[in-house]
Amino acid sequence: MTAKIIDGKAIAAEFNAETRELAFRVAGEFYRQPGLAVVLVGDDPASQVYVRNKIRTSAETGIRSELHRLPATATTAEVLELVARLNADPAVDGILVQSPPPPQVDEAEVIRAIDPDKDVDCFSERNVGRLLIGHDSGFRPCTPWGVMELLRRSGCDPAGKHAVVVGRSNIVGKPMAALLMQKAAGANATVTVVHSGTVEPERYARQADILIAAIGRPNFVTGNWIKPGAVVIDVGINRVVDPDTGRSRLTGDVNFDEAVEIASAITPVPGGVGPMTVAVLMRNAVTAAMLHLRMCR
Ligand code: GUN
Repeated sequence: MTAKIIDGKAIAAEFNAETRELAFRVAGEFYRQPGLAVVLVGDDPASQVYVRNKIRTSAETGIRSELHRLPATATTAEVLELVARLNADPAVDGILVQSPPPPQVDEAEVIRAIDPDKDVDCFSERNVGRLLIGHDSGFRPCTPWGVMELLRRSGCDPAGKHAVVVGRSNIVGKPMAALLMQKAAGANATVTVVHSGTVEPERYARQADILIAAIGRPNFVTGNWIKPGAVVIDVGINRVVDPDTGRSRLTGDVNFDEAVEIASAITPVPGGVGPMTVAVLMRNAVTAAMLHLRMCR
């Protein structure tokens, strides 16, 4: 069997077109565009690429973005001061601090300082809590919600299925499990989370109807982890040096060449989950503007 390729770029383009319409409706009703502030601390090359994508996609979806760069030597206090200014700025609806910041910056404290009504990453304690109890804050965790949209828009309903999430990060693994297990349309899966403390994670993975890999290790999930016919979602974006060409390229957490022969559907890297993460961020920025502008009326 050769798996169907889930085209994240095409699905993100469809999703972004809907976001753009919403953004224009907001602009028409309130006479200003949704505003997104992106904070980049330091010069991590991968973060620079991600931030550039976010700024570009903002323009494509009718969102006004502003990039705030701080040097790699910035202190937690300096980042907090910037966040306080952005919290107070009425033209800024959403704030995103690109992760990871340099090690001297206390990321948890920075996340706690962002106004939860501007928390377009859905990282704040309030919004994560709401997500867990199924109370809609309006904000979606970007990568996990992107995965839910990929499943939905490619015709895979998780209801009644066994989903195995590989990885337990706060950004992906934990909110992914929370979304999949919700008692809600488009969710309702039975969820197992395996992680670095799991003995024989492949034993659980092989029972997955939906396998979501979010470990951050290139080609970690090999063909023998995958049940024939499973849907495989690869969240990993790892830069590796190709031994044949000596050039650097992106690869996922899943060994694609092996998985594509066993799965029924699979996301590629690049062009799978990545574009959807950015797409959900844009939707959150528009949601933030709607919340904000209605409150100010
Ligand atoms: N770094 C990797 N993914 C993300 C994300 O979704 N949001 C932020 N702020 N940083 C990230």
